[in-house]
Amino acid sequence: MTDTALVSPDAADAHPGHPLDPASAADYQAGRRILAAAGLLAESVRFAYYGLDEPAKDEVLAAPGSQPPDRRLRAFLLDVHSGESADVVVSLTRGQVVSRRVLDPRSDGQLPIINEDFAVCEEVVRADPQWRAAMARRGLTDVSKIRTCPLTAGSFGAADEEGRRMVRVLAFVQADPHDYAWSHPVDGVAAYFDLIERRVFRVVDEFERPVPAESGNYDDPAVHGPLRTDLRPIEITQPDGPSFTLDGTRLRWQNWSMRIGFDAREGLTLHQIAIADNGRERPLIYRASLPEMVVPYGDPAFRYWQAYFDTGEYLVGKWANSLELGCDCLGEIAYLDATITDDFGEPRVIRNAICIHEEDYGILWKHTDIFNGSAQSRRQRRLVVSFFTTVGNYDYGFYWYFYLDGTIECEIKMTGALFTAAYPGGDYPYSSEVAPGLGAPVHQHLFSARLDMTVDGLANAVDEIDVSGCPVGPDNPYGNAIRQHVTRLGTESQAARRADAARGRTWRVVSTDQVNRFGRPVSYTLYPEAAPPLLADPSSPVSARAGFATRHLWVTRYDPAQRYPAGDFVNQHPGGAGLPAFIAGDRDIDGADIVLWHTFGPTHVPRPEDWPVMPVARCGFTLKPTGFFGRNPTLDVPPPAGHCQDGR
Ligand code: CO
Repeated sequence: MTDTALVSPDAADAHPGHPLDPASAADYQAGRRILAAAGLLAESVRFAYYGLDEPAKDEVLAAPGSQPPDRRLRAFLLDVHSGESADVVVSLTRGQVVSRRVLDPRSDGQLPIINEDFAVCEEVVRADPQWRAAMARRGLTDVSKIRTCPLTAGSFGAADEEGRRMVRVLAFVQADPHDYAWSHPVDGVAAYFDLIERRVFRVVDEFERPVPAESGNYDDPAVHGPLRTDLRPIEITQPDGPSFTLDGTRLRWQNWSMRIGFDAREGLTLHQIAIADNGRERPLIYRASLPEMVVPYGDPAFRYWQAYFDTGEYLVGKWANSLELGCDCLGEIAYLDATITDDFGEPRVIRNAICIHEEDYGILWKHTDIFNGSAQSRRQRRLVVSFFTTVGNYDYGFYWYFYLDGTIECEIKMTGALFTAAYPGGDYPYSSEVAPGLGAPVHQHLFSARLDMTVDGLANAVDEIDVSGCPVGPDNPYGNAIRQHVTRLGTESQAARRADAARGRTWRVVSTDQVNRFGRPVSYTLYPEAAPPLLADPSSPVSARAGFATRHLWVTRYDPAQRYPAGDFVNQHPGGAGLPAFIAGDRDIDGADIVLWHTFGPTHVPRPEDWPVMPVARCGFTLKPTGFFGRNPTLDVPPPAGHCQDGR
């Protein structure tokens, strides 16, 4: 699934040229040497995360010629014998460990899942007598045909779970090595597994239901039937090449410029997004990323604990796919490799992890004028920067789109396999039957975008814009009035907001010191999709852990330590970390250096058509210039060569 190659030290690239460039193989190896010299890399130590510890914004933006910032890496080190977990920062510049903090598992939770956990878990669970007995009661005596799925445990305050590094393990029947195991869940039984003691400490065996039998092997001709023969080729060609340029990690296209980053935890990161306007480089977003997502499942029985924080618990960047031209991407594609590390902190390159290309996007603008007869048409086009990742059953594509007219879109493409269970029968409201006897619980996919805004500089504020009709009155005698209501969100607590589709609610990020030609603040507007945020009860353990997902919008004052909306350590964290804690000080955000955090994503009621592999479902948000330009900024876009040259 992921094409990784071990990097030899000789192949390691030179020291990076920009402080925001992702950690290179050479960086990782230099960091390892410092950690080893400090005695922190015992044989039993694994890297649960290893990545660039980005310098603070003021250091990066410091005047040219000033001292470049310290090059630092952050490592989450897990001792798989003792269970000790530590958060360590090393300075490559100074060749030393900068800080080391040992986690308290009761208050900090646990480090992310490591690769080794998957293998250890399957081997030990299959050998556990109590679990084997539970399988045998279901007629499953050949454990070599049972696959186990180690799932993050959450935090529910159970006495025998406190302080343990653990996973909950569900089972699926895989009749042969090519069988699609998600088709055959063994329901009602779970092994609770201690990853440090490497043993099952509890087997939960609540009910028995038949293992669904129908094959979901979507690449088996017996399942998909004869392939269509009437799809003719579509080829995308750009005979003169694409219109973007890539210089190291610096990407330029039309008026846009940005730096491309990549991190094992967050995946693709975008930095210093700016737009050129009449020769002036105008900053827009200092950093854009998707630093968390949670998939809470809605079945209250037996599987009440299912809620996966794919980013904070599993690290979406680490599972990035190697993309293939013609399959994953069409046209003139530029790929960037991503360098991550294995459990031992050794660099691995994911080839073609980041895809950059241009797409035609239909009409940009068009008008046939009834008075002067002019008929003009322009093509819209977008720059696409994306990557795809596979986390367990689901595959997620993370796409950023930049348009000629200054619009930015973020889109998530969700595909892959539904997480399945046995369907209990009747009309069970918490799940859908997607194949005979096969259920897929209702769930949410809630993403958090972190948008460190710099709309024409650091001094920004956020206005909430609602629209409404107005009652008939002296100023509105015929009742047709529609007005906007503008509310400045002055402090962090005031800016914890929900979307409101009935009021067309948007949020406008305004500069508090730059104005347009009308003397009004330049701004960019966030258009949310306004789907429901977290639906779990506010008193639930998952609400405490996914506090970020209870609001569509948060605005915080920039703090370089506030990177992750569910906190730095998400796995088994008891809750309260991240955004709810960040805003506890209720800082002033009017005219400050601010960060927007936007929660979005669908509540997924699975359909039979989502099985056995789900057609891409999409969600996202849009940012549009609003008085950022003085008029339509695309009047200078030429008509397509050879067409519509003179529409008169
Ligand atoms: Co889903």
